[in-house]
Amino acid sequence: MSNPPTPESPRDSESEVSADRTVPVETPAAPGLSRRGLLALGGGVGLAVGAVAGGITGIAVTKNNSSSAAELEYSFYGEHQSGIITPAQDRMHFAAFDMRDDATRDDLISLLQDWSYATSRMMMGLDVSAKGAFRGGPYLPPEDTGEASGLGPSGLTITFGFGRSLFRSDDGTDRFGLAAQLPEDFTDLPTMVNDFIQPARSGGDLCVQACSNDPQVAVHAIRNLTRIAFGRAQLKWSQLGFGRTSSTSTAQDTPRNLFGQKDGTNNLKAEEPDRLTENVWITDGPAWSHGGSYLVARRIAMTIEVWDGVQLQEQDRVLGRDKESGAPLSGGTEFTAPDFAATDDGGKLLIDIRSHVARTHPENNDGIAMLRRGYNYVDGNDDTGRLDAGLFFIAFVNQPDRFAAVHTNMARDDMFVEYLKTTSSSVFVVPGGIGESEYVGQSLFEA
Ligand code: HEM
Repeated sequence: MSNPPTPESPRDSESEVSADRTVPVETPAAPGLSRRGLLALGGGVGLAVGAVAGGITGIAVTKNNSSSAAELEYSFYGEHQSGIITPAQDRMHFAAFDMRDDATRDDLISLLQDWSYATSRMMMGLDVSAKGAFRGGPYLPPEDTGEASGLGPSGLTITFGFGRSLFRSDDGTDRFGLAAQLPEDFTDLPTMVNDFIQPARSGGDLCVQACSNDPQVAVHAIRNLTRIAFGRAQLKWSQLGFGRTSSTSTAQDTPRNLFGQKDGTNNLKAEEPDRLTENVWITDGPAWSHGGSYLVARRIAMTIEVWDGVQLQEQDRVLGRDKESGAPLSGGTEFTAPDFAATDDGGKLLIDIRSHVARTHPENNDGIAMLRRGYNYVDGNDDTGRLDAGLFFIAFVNQPDRFAAVHTNMARDDMFVEYLKTTSSSVFVVPGGIGESEYVGQSLFEA
C-alpha cells in the first residue's frame, strides 16, 4: 500500500516542479512529450526511459520566480551532457564503477536506462522514483535514501562517461559487443613526471560526475546511482571535492585553489562556442561520440606545507601570475593576455619560461586549450600530520592526445611540478547529450 502524495518540498512534490518552467529561447523545446510526460510514465526506476517519444530540449531550465540557490535547476537533456560547460558548481562527488564480471550487454543497457531515469528526476529536485523515500509503503525499503529530501535541485548536474575497459577489457575481451565502437582517439595517458598512480583509485568501466551547490545533493546522487547499479555494477572508487577551482563562464568570479591562487582565469568558457568546438567537443570518430568529450581526471596531491614556506615572489614566479590580482607578471590586470616576450630593464623575461602559465598556455602548445573543471579536496591527513590535500583535476578535451601534449610540456620543466604528486589518473569518453526519449549513451548501442 502506498501513502498518498503529501507534497512538502521541491524534492517530493512533482506537481510543483512540473509547473512554471522557462526554457531559454536559444534552445527551444522540440515537439514531443515533455518531462512531465516522462514523469507520468515513470511508475518506478527503469520503466520510463526509452519508452517515450520526444525531442531535444534546452540545456538550462529555471523556474519562474525562483532565485534561491536550492531551486537552481539544469536540464538533463540537450546537445551536450550537462556538467561540462554548466557554470561550475561548488561541490562535487565523482565516482567510477566497474561492471560485474557476469554482467551482460542487456544489464549494461538497463543500467544506463535506470540511471538516466533517476538522473532526470534528481536534477529536477525529485526523488529517484515516484515512490521515492516515503511512498513505497511501510514494509519495503524506500526506493530513495531520503537525505536530499527538501533540498531542491541545488544546481545538480550528472555527467556520465565510459572507460576504455567498457569497450575492450585489458585481456582483449569484448564483453559487451562494443569493441568495434572504441574510438581510435581514445588513448591512455602516458606516465607523467611525479606520477604515483594507485590503480585502485584509477580508471573504471563507467564514471559519474555529480556536481551541485549543496554537498548533500551531490552525495545523494552518487549514493542512489550506486544503489540502482546493485547486481550490475559496483563502485570502484570515488572522490569528494569542495570549492571549484575553475570558472567555466564569464559570469563567474575566479575562485582560489589550495595554494591561494586565482584558478580558472584563462580557462575555456561557455561563452566561447568556436573555441569549445575546436578544443572540447568531439567531432571526429564514431558518430555516437559526436557532441561528447573526453574527461581527464587526475587526483593531484599538493605539498601545501612545503608551499606555505615559499616566499611570495617565488610563488608568483612559479605560477607566472601575481597571487593577489591574478594578473600575468608581464603586467596588466587579471584578464590581460600574458606577454611571454616582455622583459625588465635588464632584459630578463618577466614571465619565467618554466612557470606553470608559460608551460600550459595555448600560445606555447600549438594553440591547444582545455576546459578545466576541478575541485579542491582534503582527505584527512597522514601520520606525520600533513594534510592529504590537493586538486581533483578534471579537464574536458576532444582528444586525450591533445591533453597529453600540454601535460608533457608542463611535466618537462614546469617549476610547479615540484609541489605536486599525482595519485590517480583516468580518461573517460563522455557521450553527447540526449533527447527526452533517450537514455544516456543510447546511440552507442544502436551504432
Ligand atoms: C595541483 C595542480 C594544479 C594547480 C594548483 C594548477 C593551478 C593553475 C593556476 C593557478 C593557473 C593560472 C590561472 C588560470 O589561468 O587558470 C593555471 C593555469 C592553467 N593550468 Fe593549471 N594547475 C594544476 C595542474 C594542471 C595540470 C595537470 C594541467 C594540465 C596540463 C594544467 C593546465 C593548465 C592550463 C591549460 C592553464 C591555463 C594557462 C593559460 O592559458 O594561461 N594545470 N593552473
